[in-house]
Amino acid sequence: MSTRESVKETIAPPERAYLVGVEWSSFPKGKYKSGAWPAAESLLELERLADTAGLDVVGQMIQKRERPHPATFVGSGKADEIAEMVRALEVDVVIFDDELTPRHQRELERIFGSQVKVLDRTGLILDIFAQHAHTSEGVLQVELAQYEYRLPRLTRTWTEAAYTRQAGGRAGGATGGVGLRGPGETKLETDRRVIRRRIAQLKRELEHVRAHRARHRAQRRRSGLPTVALVGYTNAGKSTLLNTLSGADVYIADQLFATLDPTTRRVELPGGTIVLVTDTVGFIQKLPTQLVAAFRATLEEVVEADLLLHVSDASHPRVLQQSRAVYQTLREIHAEDLPVINVLNKIDRLPDPEVAIRALDSLPDSVAISALTGQGIDDLKAHIEAVLESEMRPFQILIPFSRGDLVSLYHEHGLIEEEQHGANGTLIRGRLPQHLIPMFEGQIR
Ligand code: GTP
Repeated sequence: MSTRESVKETIAPPERAYLVGVEWSSFPKGKYKSGAWPAAESLLELERLADTAGLDVVGQMIQKRERPHPATFVGSGKADEIAEMVRALEVDVVIFDDELTPRHQRELERIFGSQVKVLDRTGLILDIFAQHAHTSEGVLQVELAQYEYRLPRLTRTWTEAAYTRQAGGRAGGATGGVGLRGPGETKLETDRRVIRRRIAQLKRELEHVRAHRARHRAQRRRSGLPTVALVGYTNAGKSTLLNTLSGADVYIADQLFATLDPTTRRVELPGGTIVLVTDTVGFIQKLPTQLVAAFRATLEEVVEADLLLHVSDASHPRVLQQSRAVYQTLREIHAEDLPVINVLNKIDRLPDPEVAIRALDSLPDSVAISALTGQGIDDLKAHIEAVLESEMRPFQILIPFSRGDLVSLYHEHGLIEEEQHGANGTLIRGRLPQHLIPMFEGQIR
């Protein structure tokens, strides 16, 4: 038998997935809001997510509903219909495009049968995150998010999956171990306790990670280099842009959520300014707050940046909606007031890239580029330099010795040109971000 044949034999076939989307006709409020995404397009995105998770999508359906059915989400008639499709197509996992309550999930699992796993968009994203987390920080964050998501949904199936993960496995496959059975209800209670303990432990470990990151950031600040964070919808081209800007070699894949762990690179701008550019986790519509919260340590890189580059995929038919989803997440992490440059990427895919460049030329905070071909990159660099400079003001101040905290603050956020220690305190001359100046003046007066 050739090596290829033996490998083929040992690889299990991909799990077969069936997708379910809902077009809400008159249910505009709350967490089931589809936003500006028609269900069909949201489902297309779910299909890409399933594909990224390594699943084989064998069918899908969209249903019109006014509001979710309290027990079965889609209504019992529709749930039976899906159960028939599941049998006919030999489906392993049914994925809903909206968030299911634990009750929905249990009820649907009962209807579809014990061999079939029920997931929602969040569960699927968590699984992709688990597959893509590489650093210990990323792994911790994903594990925490997974346990928090699973705890209220804990059935015997999930319990086994959790144990498998604790025993050393990371992702456990997109369905978290279909078909495994635990011993019973009492065990379930014990398992819940074990998981709660693990959640508390993960939170403590993540606090250490955050403190460590904060120290790193403070060090970077002391170097006086401005920081720029790349934010954007998943697959918009952030990692590609970081590579092009810095000449570095960051992992790129035509997959959703290829990057989970932040990467920082030095970039030299045309006027000689050196900036630190950080690439972070991508955003997506319907990203639950609990998931955003789990990535707090990573997202602090965004919140504490001097400037955000909001990268979007100009060739995507839903670019505006994607952009809205990004701003929504920025609001959730309280980063909405930071200066932003809108970077319209992938213009090489447009029929006439020059039109996009000219159109954006007139807007003060937007630049059209192709991170792949390098078109517009010099403009973008010049733009970054201009915005950073416009955010800084020359500022001189004599800080009394009793206010060492303000000296540190100047060091952390400003660019120091001269520092003298005199009889009355420390005289600092340099440049400070505009928004900090009134604060310094108010405290010293
Ligand atoms: P996540 O990690 O999912 O957040 O993605 P990302 O925003 O970091 O995107 P990434 O850089 O991994 O790029 C996603 C895909 O888009 C890859 O296949 C890239 O080759 C492609 N891509 C990125 N920039 C461009 C561009 O300017 N033009 C074209 N045609 N493709 C691009």
